[in-house]
Amino acid sequence: MINSLKYFAVVPAAGVGKRMQADRPKQYLSLCNHTVIEHTLSRLLEAEAFTTVAVAISVEDPYWPELEISRHPQILTAAGGKERADSVLSALKSLENQAAADDWVLVHDAARPCITSADIHKLIETLKQDATGGILALPSHDTLKQVDGCQIQQTLDRRTVWRALTPQMFRFGALKQALEQTQGNLAITDEASAFELIGQSAKIVEGRPDNIKITQPEDLLLAQFYLEQQ
Ligand code: C5P
Repeated sequence: MINSLKYFAVVPAAGVGKRMQADRPKQYLSLCNHTVIEHTLSRLLEAEAFTTVAVAISVEDPYWPELEISRHPQILTAAGGKERADSVLSALKSLENQAAADDWVLVHDAARPCITSADIHKLIETLKQDATGGILALPSHDTLKQVDGCQIQQTLDRRTVWRALTPQMFRFGALKQALEQTQGNLAITDEASAFELIGQSAKIVEGRPDNIKITQPEDLLLAQFYLEQQ
């Protein structure tokens, strides 16, 4: 049977990005002649996988309306929330009139502009028959230490620890419910952690290491290098 489910993208983009120490949120910093968020959204649109891309934007954000891509017919603007999870939930609610409970949603950070179509389709192809969903992630190559302040407590078995990336892909209805059930919990820093908290486990799919999140000033140079290489 041809899979008739729809795919939606949700992009939380309402953060202030304090660690960048810039004059504007990091998604609006310049990268290869465009803003970070323009690269991210263009990559999602170019993947030709999504019915709609819902973007959560802070209500006080003066930069978003200035971007032509904010008026793209496939892009829907939703109000951002206090935490990342609140922004994602708000974007999901904006899709309620087009998404069915079993449709898939891929949540992708605005601050990850180097996402490739190849990784988006790898995630979709790997998980489209799955009951719950899962995330792109990277294995750890460094030796990992659990610490208390500056004191090492123990060495973790790195074969069992992965770094969570985005997109993170879940069923629309289940994701909305998981985020509603765990709302206000500050330990929810990605979608998978909401599922973990309610006792459901998600899968990992190995992603590309160039799918970095812009967090610190030097990340912009690295992202520029990756975009040029890709
Ligand atoms: O701060 P961090 O890098 O973890 O943010 C990840 C993503 O979540 C960013 O794209 C940021 O804009 C978004 N975010 C949001 N609403 C918040 C906080 C962060 O949409 N309240």
